[in-house]
Amino acid sequence: MVIGVPREIKNHEYRVGLLPVHAHVLREAGHRVLVQRNAGAGSGACDKDYREAGATVVGSAREVYARAGMIVKVKEPQAGEFRRLRPRQIVFTYFHFAASRALVEAVIESRIVAIAYETVQAADGSLPLLVPMSEIAGRMAVHEGAKYLEEPFKGRGLLLAGVPGVAPARVVVIGGGIVGANAAKMAAGLGADVTILDVSLPRLRYLDDVMPKNVTTLMSNAYNIRDAVRHADLLIGAVLVTGAKAPVLVSEALVKQMKRGAVIVDVAIDQGGSIATSRPTTHGAPTFIKHGVVHYCVTNMPGAVARTSTSALTNATFPYVLEIANKGWRRAVEENAVIRSGLNIVEGGVAFGKIAEQFRLPLRQS
Ligand SMILES: NC(=O)c1ccc[n+]([C@@H]2O[C@H](COP(=O)([O-])OP(=O)(O)OC[C@H]3O[C@@H](n4cnc5c(N)ncnc54)[C@H](O)[C@@H]3O)[C@@H](O)[C@H]2O)c1
Repeated sequence: MVIGVPREIKNHEYRVGLLPVHAHVLREAGHRVLVQRNAGAGSGACDKDYREAGATVVGSAREVYARAGMIVKVKEPQAGEFRRLRPRQIVFTYFHFAASRALVEAVIESRIVAIAYETVQAADGSLPLLVPMSEIAGRMAVHEGAKYLEEPFKGRGLLLAGVPGVAPARVVVIGGGIVGANAAKMAAGLGADVTILDVSLPRLRYLDDVMPKNVTTLMSNAYNIRDAVRHADLLIGAVLVTGAKAPVLVSEALVKQMKRGAVIVDVAIDQGGSIATSRPTTHGAPTFIKHGVVHYCVTNMPGAVARTSTSALTNATFPYVLEIANKGWRRAVEENAVIRSGLNIVEGGVAFGKIAEQFRLPLRQS
């Protein structure tokens, strides 16, 4: 199979779908790899490295899309990429369809085979291709939150850790999954006073077991959310309902009751956001202020730490890339239920129940 790796064009996205080491393994397995010039530069992989690994470096995205049977990338196709997609071409990437009807419509029209990283699900219910990026985004949420709490960024002028004789900042994390646990761990490590809310009692039990003493676990319900959010200096949105739009758990009225200069980092923004006042932002212009609260809602947070995140992402995606390349998508999904769970839209038909439901589209019969 010819595997194509285009350069990402989303604002400040520096990750890349495959590294030279993967080009080498694919080559050894009898495949061809086409990489767009400079695709890996932001992740520390130069064209020469790809060439030495046996890949062909081509000058344009047009050429990559025109020749590849499978495109491996990172972010959902952007408007400028829609016209390049070809019928029956496999596209393996993050799609986050739940956040965009325009993307759903464009992908249906293109008749590609869209296999979405974010819905690939292991037998134990975990999402192995979301985990590494969630680990990064969770940790980063605390870095970013700490930065925007500083006065020059219109924050409250608070140091997360406090100092002897001065109380630490209050960090509230809604959603105690991978993002939430990593955020809580980082914030706690810095000495903040952390509260983490989740709807799952087993998850709260686990967090209570593994987290340090300055982390309080709370059942997520409207009452506890209201109380915690009113007192928060830094609020981190980290909920997920797999494959669906994020539930909005903090209303605009509640944001109005937050402290002036408090910071919201809504990590769940890539699934539509869990705070009513959130709207997607970019690394170029990461924040906006609403009701006196600084909002950071970057949809591709890990893109800013591309060297770490490309390695973390491709560690997780590559075994599936190789299996799809070796078997073709039909056999790969027949033989591997984990890959099957990533099928979202196939040659014009929606194959993922929650997407069909959300957008009121017919579900494709397999
Ligand atoms: N912005 C970015 O760059 C970026 C990067 C990585 C992940 N994300 C997003 O972060 C979100 C969280 O991802 P994750 O990997 O931690 O998911 P996860 O499945 O590991 O955790 C989600 C948690 O939310 C909990 N939850 C569900 N409904 C809830 C509610 N009403 N109240 C409180 N908790 C609730 C679940 O019980 C679960 O523990 C997702 O939307 C994901 O797409 C964004």
